Amino acid sequence: MSKICVIGTGYVGLVTGTCFADMGNDVTCVDIVEEKIARLKRGEVPIYEPGLAEMIARNVRAGRLHFTTSYREGLADSEFIFIAVNTPTGSTQGSADMRYVEMAARMIAEELDHYAVIINKSTVPVGSGDVVTRIIRTHLARPDVSFAVVSNPEFLREGAAIQDFLNPDRVVLGSSDMEAAHRVAALYLPLRAPIIMTDIYTAEMIKYASNAFLATKISFINEIAQICERLGADVKEVAVGMGYDKRIGRAFLDAGLGYGGSCFPKDVRALAHMADEAGLHPQLLHAVMEINQDQRRLVVDKLVSILGSLRNATIGILGLAFKANTDDMREAPSLDIIRWVTGQGALVRAYDPVARETARQAMEREGIRLDLVTFCSNAYEVAEQADAIIIVTDWNEFKSLDMVQIRNLMRRPVLIDGRNIYEPREMVSLGFTYRGIGRGT
Ligand code: UGA
Repeated sequence: MSKICVIGTGYVGLVTGTCFADMGNDVTCVDIVEEKIARLKRGEVPIYEPGLAEMIARNVRAGRLHFTTSYREGLADSEFIFIAVNTPTGSTQGSADMRYVEMAARMIAEELDHYAVIINKSTVPVGSGDVVTRIIRTHLARPDVSFAVVSNPEFLREGAAIQDFLNPDRVVLGSSDMEAAHRVAALYLPLRAPIIMTDIYTAEMIKYASNAFLATKISFINEIAQICERLGADVKEVAVGMGYDKRIGRAFLDAGLGYGGSCFPKDVRALAHMADEAGLHPQLLHAVMEINQDQRRLVVDKLVSILGSLRNATIGILGLAFKANTDDMREAPSLDIIRWVTGQGALVRAYDPVARETARQAMEREGIRLDLVTFCSNAYEVAEQADAIIIVTDWNEFKSLDMVQIRNLMRRPVLIDGRNIYEPREMVSLGFTYRGIGRGT
């Protein structure tokens, strides 16, 4: 059993802390946001993540998982200190904002009174490991205390976070201090995953390159989808046919509304920015971002090509979160789509199984006119008197709707399937004017 402190109770921090506790370690999660810690202490989980609430409760009961706003309390006797704070897009051209990581490093320096391994889990620009080391060294309240810094990027997905943490494809550890890296490796040994030990720059780059590659796969298949549409091919079957080739793989070849969320958009931007700064011109990364933005616009274009004007039309939106199984609205395609259709005079009826409240807040922040948006409590309510429905998020419950009832409730049976969850022929035979993405209709 090890004593671990995790700084930051966002997705990565909370899941990391909880899973390490579940593996038998003694974990204290620190966050400076008092309200978040107060809620966690009351047993409320601030994010929607399947299985997380139960796992937190179990480990709190077992006395292995604690929450505090005090760095001193969190750091006391901790052998391992994980930094898992967020690194949003900064103000200059897509650069990553390191403010929270730097703040965490300073706070650690001020409180650290014993040797510890400081592990960075936040996605940070290549070279940040050095910055963290420098900040801690400069601000150490006890200059006689020694420490090591290890980069350990996290690859978990929202919605499958626990499963991904406990069954990683690999664990990446980067450091100039191999002894410290081996200590961290020991924490992960029970997971029986391949462990890659490398230098800190390379570890940081592995994270960016992995996310950028996955984003590239998505933009690639979205470009192929557009070509399929013109030439009469079906991109869904193309992806299946391609995916059998082991060198390609089927994953992340689902054409649709493109990627959103807190990671891909920010990380591709940050990587492109780092390359730009280095005097390179990363053409592929820029194309990936452009195609991703175009996909959102394309859906609204399809709508306009069928309905003509959107003025006074009622548009149903199924799914608001950036993907299924989360209430996360960061960079969700629904926000752009709702802004554009309401901008053209449409009214919106929207439903998401869990993201209603986070969606309302995100729309407010983005200046979307909430008086034009009605939040419904299920898909059938969305369909009532709608002139069209757009499927924006592929929640499972949208895959098994009674489409005859949906059609009967609508004013005009227009279905834009932004996630290709229905079969075009079937929808047409039910009387829908159906448009998928890259499916030749
Ligand atoms: C992503 C990575 O998958 C994780 O490995 C990584 O740890 C994480 O970012 C991160 O950097 O923290 P996440 O953003 O939770 O995880 O979500 P994904 O499941 O990867 O989906 C990202 C976006 O791509 C979603 O908007 C999804 O709808 C879209 N997507 C995914 C597609 O449009 N097509 C696909 O085939 C797959």
